[in-house]
Amino acid sequence: MDVRDAIRKRRSIRKFKPDPVSDELIVQLLESARLAPSGSNTQPWRFIVVRDAETRQKLQMASYNQRHVGQAPLIIACCADIRAFGEFPERIDELIAAGALPAKSREVFVPSLKKGEMSADLKWHLLIAATGNTDIAIEHMVLQAVEFGLGTCWVRWFDDNKVREILEIPKSIELIALLPIGYPAEEPPQRPRFDLSKVVYYEKYGKGVNS
Ligand SMILES: Cc1cc2nc3c(=O)[nH]c(=O)nc-3n(C[C@H](O)[C@H](O)[C@H](O)COP(=O)(O)O)c2cc1C
Repeated sequence: MDVRDAIRKRRSIRKFKPDPVSDELIVQLLESARLAPSGSNTQPWRFIVVRDAETRQKLQMASYNQRHVGQAPLIIACCADIRAFGEFPERIDELIAAGALPAKSREVFVPSLKKGEMSADLKWHLLIAATGNTDIAIEHMVLQAVEFGLGTCWVRWFDDNKVREILEIPKSIELIALLPIGYPAEEPPQRPRFDLSKVVYYEKYGKGVNS
């Protein structure tokens, strides 16, 4: 299956068969997340693999009883550690060593984030960056799952505190999404999407192709 097919075939799946997802496939899904790009290669994503039926049931309840959450035999809870940005200088050095950045990048990307020092404003910006980066890794898993015949559903509608408590996620870690995964028990049609003309402009914001 090529990427184009995976993108076209993907749906949010909300009915799953009980069949388990093998350890091998789980590792391959996580591997596809690991290879995702991130700003300055900070790789802030962290994942919790949840297979235990009781925990999945608790996560369903914490997700306002969305049944597909508990029904999926596997949930990957996707988190981000904004302290990853504190390792900025190390990541830049690695990129320089790998030939991805010129040596002078070390001076341009100022190692401004000393560990333990974080204003509310900086935290806000890092939170946006960490969320964006982790979202990319999640979507890598989502598309890889399609090739394996697996279904997924992004879940962001949950009680953050409850999920944190169930999974013992420390306060310093951001909870980004839950990703229920399993073999689909439904084949939904393509969901509605805006036409490109509603979302794409040319040269300047608001300019249509012919205006
Ligand atoms: C960030 C994000 C959060 C979402 N949260 C939920 C959710 O909590 N529960 C759910 O059933 N679907 C959730 N969805 C799935 C969307 O409803 C779905 O992507 C959209 O309706 C389009 O359908 P499709 O994914 O099948 O193309 C979420 C999707 C995204 C990207």
